[in-house]
Amino acid sequence: MVEPREDVTLGKLPLTYRALFTSFLLVMGLGLCMAGAQIMLTHGAADGKMGLSMDDIVYSYYGNRSGSKLESAMTGKMKSKAPAEVSFAMIQWARDGAPAEQWNKLAPLFEKHCASCHDAESGLPEVNKIDVARSLSETDQGASIATLTRVSHIHLFGIGFIFLFVGWIFGMAEFNQRWKIILITTPFAFLVLDIASWWLTKFWPAFAWFTMIGGIGYSIAAMVMFVTAFAQMWLPRWTKK
Ligand code: HEC
Repeated sequence: MVEPREDVTLGKLPLTYRALFTSFLLVMGLGLCMAGAQIMLTHGAADGKMGLSMDDIVYSYYGNRSGSKLESAMTGKMKSKAPAEVSFAMIQWARDGAPAEQWNKLAPLFEKHCASCHDAESGLPEVNKIDVARSLSETDQGASIATLTRVSHIHLFGIGFIFLFVGWIFGMAEFNQRWKIILITTPFAFLVLDIASWWLTKFWPAFAWFTMIGGIGYSIAAMVMFVTAFAQMWLPRWTKK
């Protein structure tokens, strides 16, 4: 295999391109931090505790099949919003399969304790409407197929492009040729593994591990490429030759 020609190594690039690539990599780095923060805020809290854990991944994709959203809310975040006997009545109703004929007993409870916040303007589910209350009473099945297809294709296209450009830049680095090929291709492989794991976790919770491995895998590969590219574009060891 042929090493990159001397004149196309990162350190020898005109200042213009080094400035362009550096700006791009910095913005991508910031994007990665934001993505990390967003994962912590959404999935990270799925099990009610801060920080990303296996349970969060399982809850997000497989769902919490031991109960409904209504039940998790009334035993978790919304516990303080109603007296214990009201929470109990709501949970009981959800567990019984949310029978419509009992709604007239439940409606005043939702109206009194919940509707002040869960109204049309709030963007929160309007739990005092029977359809909403019933759908929140269904067993939590995790991410829907519709959500997964949407998020999957956005990730494949978007992240694929990021890796294309990061790999392109890193391709001009002076680096052991074999490792270079490995570092350039692994993020794509881990991306596919990551997305495959969401689907697998939706049906078999044990696959949550793959989500962790995929995410950590491509973060490490991206990190090595970023650091190498920055160093070789700006440190005298590579730029002065
Ligand atoms: C003081 C305002 C307030 C009151 C009262 C309140 N909620 Fe909430 N509720 C919220 C907020 C804010 C959220 C979103 C919180 C979050 O996700 O961290 C929420 C979230 C929820 C969720 C989760 C929604 C989802 O899509 O996952 C459910 C279920 C819920 N509330 C049910 C209830 C019920 C039932 C009551 C009445 C017993 C109630 N809430 C009373 C403010 C309120």
